[in-house]
Amino acid sequence: MDVLAAPPGGAPAASVTVLPAAQLRGELRLPGDKSISHRALMLALLAEGESRIRDAGDGADVRSTAGVVAALGAAVERLPGNGGSVDYRVVSPGDEALRAPAVALDCGNSGTSLRLFAGILAGLPLTAVLDGDASLRGRPVARIIEPLRAMGATLEARDHDSHPPVTVTGRRPLRPIDWTTPVPSAQVKSAILLAGLRAGGTTRVHERVATRDHSERMLRARGVAVRSLPDGAGGAVIEIDGGTTVQAMEQRVPGDPSAAAFWLVAAAVHPDAELGIRNVGVNPTRRAVIDLLARMGADIEERSTTQGVGHDRDGPGDVGEPVADLVVRSSSLEAVDIGPAEVAAAIDEIPVLCLAATQARGRTTIRGAGELRHKESDRLAGIAAGLRALGARIEIDGDDITIDGPARLTGAPTDSLDDHRLAMTFAIAGLIAAGRTNVGRPASAAISYPGFFSDLERIRA
Ligand code: S3P
Repeated sequence: MDVLAAPPGGAPAASVTVLPAAQLRGELRLPGDKSISHRALMLALLAEGESRIRDAGDGADVRSTAGVVAALGAAVERLPGNGGSVDYRVVSPGDEALRAPAVALDCGNSGTSLRLFAGILAGLPLTAVLDGDASLRGRPVARIIEPLRAMGATLEARDHDSHPPVTVTGRRPLRPIDWTTPVPSAQVKSAILLAGLRAGGTTRVHERVATRDHSERMLRARGVAVRSLPDGAGGAVIEIDGGTTVQAMEQRVPGDPSAAAFWLVAAAVHPDAELGIRNVGVNPTRRAVIDLLARMGADIEERSTTQGVGHDRDGPGDVGEPVADLVVRSSSLEAVDIGPAEVAAAIDEIPVLCLAATQARGRTTIRGAGELRHKESDRLAGIAAGLRALGARIEIDGDDITIDGPARLTGAPTDSLDDHRLAMTFAIAGLIAAGRTNVGRPASAAISYPGFFSDLERIRA
C-alpha cells in the first residue's frame, strides 16, 4: 500500500515514513523563491513608504526576515497569497528613521537573514544584536565581519568573532571598499553591497566565481546604480554607488528553483513519472540544477513564461527575474562530473543531485564541495550517511564526493539533522526505495517549503 504518514498537527513528528509510489503525476506550484523573498523584505525596510511583495515564500526563514524587518521599525502585514505563498505589505519610515531594537534580532535558522542584515545594520546609526537557533550559532560569520569592519562598522561575535550572535554598531558614512570574496558566497557579496548603499563612494566586490545575482537585480529595480562586469576569468566585479535612495515598489516573487529541484529529481529517477512545475525562477545564476540534470539526460521541457524585463512601480511588477514552466518525465540518467564553479552555482541543490547520481549509470564526481559543511547542517556528512543507509555507494574524500550508480535503494531510517534540504532529499528517495524509508526530523522541510509533504502526497498517483 502506498501511504505517507504526514506529520500530524501540533508537535512536530519525530519522523515520517515514505513508501514507494507506483506513479508520479500532477502539477506543482512552488513556494516563492526564498532568496528573493528575503531581499524583497529587506529592501522594503530600506525604502520609505509602502512596498508590496506578491507570492513570497512562507517558510520559516522568510518569516524570520519579516520579523526582523518589523523589529527594526517597519509595519509588516502578511496576507494569504497563491498556493503556499503569501503577500506582504511593508510600510517603512525609511532607513533614516529606523529604531534600535530592544532585544536581539532573531534570525532563526536563516543564514541569509543574519548575513544580509549585518550588511544593512553596518550602515545604520544604531547598535543591534543578530542571533538565531543552535544551527545558526554554529555557522561562520568572519566572512562578513572582515569586510564590514574594513568599511568602518563595529562588529563583535562569539568565539573570537567566528560565530553568532553578532553585535553590529553602524557608522555613517561607511568607507567604500574593494573586496575579493575568499569563498563564492552570494550572502557575503550581498552584505557588502547593502553596506555599500551607505558608503561615501563606489564599493566593489570581486567574485572569482559568480554567485546568484538577485540583490543586484532588485537594487537596480529599486533605483540604485549597480554594475556587474565580467572579470574575464569566470568571475565578476560588482560595483555599487553609495548614497542612493532605495525606492518603494510592488514586486512579484517567482517560484523557488531550489524547491523545484526536488520534483525534477523525483520525476527523473522514478520509472513512471510526469510532473508539471509552474512558474519556476530560471535566473541564469540559479538554474544550474536544471542544466546539470539535463546534461545527465533528464527529460525536462521548459516553456518560458516571461522574459522578466523591467518592473512596474504602479502595478504588480517583477524585477527582471526570468520565469518558466517546466515538465519533467522519467529519464535514464548518466553520471556527470561537477566542478567547483558548478557546485557554487547549485550549492543548495547538491544534496538532491547526489540522490539523482545514485540512479545514474557510472561514477559521478562532485569536486570542491567543502562549503556544504557550513550550511544548516554538515551536509557532506548528512547526505553521505542518509544515502548510504538506503544502499547508495557514496564516498567523501576531503571536499570531493564520488557516487557510483545505479544503485537499488532500500528503505531505512535516515536523519535530516534538522536540515530542510536533507529532509526533502530523503523523502524523495523514499518514492523510489523499496520498502519503508524513514525520514527523521522531517519538520525542518518547513524552513523553505511548508507544503512539501502535502505536495508529495498529492503527486503519488
Ligand atoms: C543564499 C546564498 C547561498 C545559499 C543560501 C541562500 C542567498 O549561501 O546556500 O541558501 O540567498 O544569498 P552562500 O552564498 O553563503 O553560499
